[in-house]
Amino acid sequence: MKLPVAELHIHLEGTLEPEMIMALAAKHSIELPYSSIDGLRAQYEFSSLQSFLDLFYANMMVLRTREDFHEITMAYLQRANDCGVRHVELFFDPQAHVERGMDLRDVISGIREALNEAEENWGISHKLIACFWRHAPASEALDLLRLMITEKHEIDGIGLDSSELGFPPELFIEVFDLARANGLHVVAHAGEEGPADYIWQALDLLKVERVDHGIRCLDDEKLVQRLVAEQMPLTVCPLSNIRLRAVDTMADHPLPSMLEAGLKVSVHSDDPAYFGGYMDANFASLMESFNFSTEQLTQLARNSFESSFIDDAAKQERLAEVEAWANQH
Ligand code: ADE
Ligand code: ZN
Repeated sequence: MKLPVAELHIHLEGTLEPEMIMALAAKHSIELPYSSIDGLRAQYEFSSLQSFLDLFYANMMVLRTREDFHEITMAYLQRANDCGVRHVELFFDPQAHVERGMDLRDVISGIREALNEAEENWGISHKLIACFWRHAPASEALDLLRLMITEKHEIDGIGLDSSELGFPPELFIEVFDLARANGLHVVAHAGEEGPADYIWQALDLLKVERVDHGIRCLDDEKLVQRLVAEQMPLTVCPLSNIRLRAVDTMADHPLPSMLEAGLKVSVHSDDPAYFGGYMDANFASLMESFNFSTEQLTQLARNSFESSFIDDAAKQERLAEVEAWANQH
């Protein structure tokens, strides 16, 4: 039995494997600046978050139809099922697809259909979270959120992603106020590359329920105390942090000290097609450096479900699966 976990920090567009990018480009007769999969893969050396985002946004333009969204979501869910994911809260970037002229209804219904199939086939429960770009004007996010609310698009929450430095959470107060007023869950990337102050802003101004990444909290002792006291979930993405140079090597990763400090951390894969793997690869890499005990692994898995937005009864069922795993190890 694999360690049962909730995947709470995964960008759908970050699951686009090079093979899929080439196949979708061929399907839609889109010319890419690379002639082979190896040529594309050769671009996967990143020096910072921005160097990754430039390629990430360019590649996602191969997504053109509802079927494309259905297909890539299904491919991800199959992969997730293979590595023990029992619940997923999937991010997607609506602005990227609307900007390209796609109908948001096609994007969301393609994703939703695959999520529902995965629930029927494998019992993987789900939520869908629309992430707004912090590099784009907040007014654009606000207009799009208003539209999603008026047209009753099926999303469960909103997030905030893309370039962090220079785009503080305070710019998005109105967007998050509107989301919360409409019963949507709220999360935000903060403290990935940006300073601890952005985490304070995400908590105090956006009133987030979860912080994505959050590793820079360690620069601020008072912030750590608050995050521990509130048991504020932090969705940590170890392979992403290494590949985007937020942390030098896995041996330097702060996850063990965060766990030790009593922070509510869990492990996630961010953009697995770009960063060297899915949930299983993240755990394998952590085990190689830290050889976590059964108790530590159990705590990480428990945290993932406790940090999720699934209802209480389902949460208890998932937590029982974690305890069953712990009893066998
Ligand atoms: N979008 C996709 N991956 C991201 C990351 N790691 N940080 C910010 N925005 C993202
Ligand atoms: Zn992310």
